[in-house]
Amino acid sequence: MFEIVEANWRDIKELYHLENVCFDRDAWPLLDLIGVLTFPSVIRLKAVMDGKMVGFIAGDRRRHQRLGWVTTIGVLPEYRKHGIGRALLDACEELIDLPTVRLCVRKSNYEAQRLYINAGYQQVGVWREYYSGNEDALVYEKHL
Ligand SMILES: CC(C)(COP(=O)(O)OP(=O)(O)OC[C@H]1O[C@@H](n2cnc3c(N)ncnc32)[C@H](O)[C@@H]1OP(=O)(O)O)[C@@H](O)C(=O)NCCC(=O)NCCS
Repeated sequence: MFEIVEANWRDIKELYHLENVCFDRDAWPLLDLIGVLTFPSVIRLKAVMDGKMVGFIAGDRRRHQRLGWVTTIGVLPEYRKHGIGRALLDACEELIDLPTVRLCVRKSNYEAQRLYINAGYQQVGVWREYYSGNEDALVYEKHL
């Protein structure tokens, strides 16, 4: 069993590890991770199992645009396919609490895209050559 709880700056070491395991060349630098764990407006949630961070999600609320963005989501490989990613996404959407949520994903990342489609997201755009290696980003959107 796992629980979803708010993350904070004390999670930096575990988040740094998770980020590098999950994202490899796309991993955010340490400074960005410190930012995501400390900026007041950021939604940050971790999935915890046996006292260990096994998943993480962050979101931004752009109230004036009535739009939220899921900015990162990752689950440690050995804990995947147990519903943790979906639980993190559901919990983040609930806290975003705005009419529309968007996120972007590498075109080749089918696993993540399946999660988003199953959760009710639809592709609404493409950012050409957004990622390193000049891979396109697909923009997905969900109306809550
Ligand atoms: C994308 C990611 C977050 C998904 O996390 P996850 O915890 O595996 O997600 P879930 O378990 O909720 O769902 C994944 C699959 O497991 C299945 N599943 C969920 N619970 C299950 C269970 N108890 N038993 C078997 N399968 C299960 C889901 O149906 C889903 O199946 P599908 O891929 O065939 O549609 C994870 O793969 C990851 O961290 N990837 C690397 C980082 C990344 O790419 N992030 C996204 C960047 S945009």
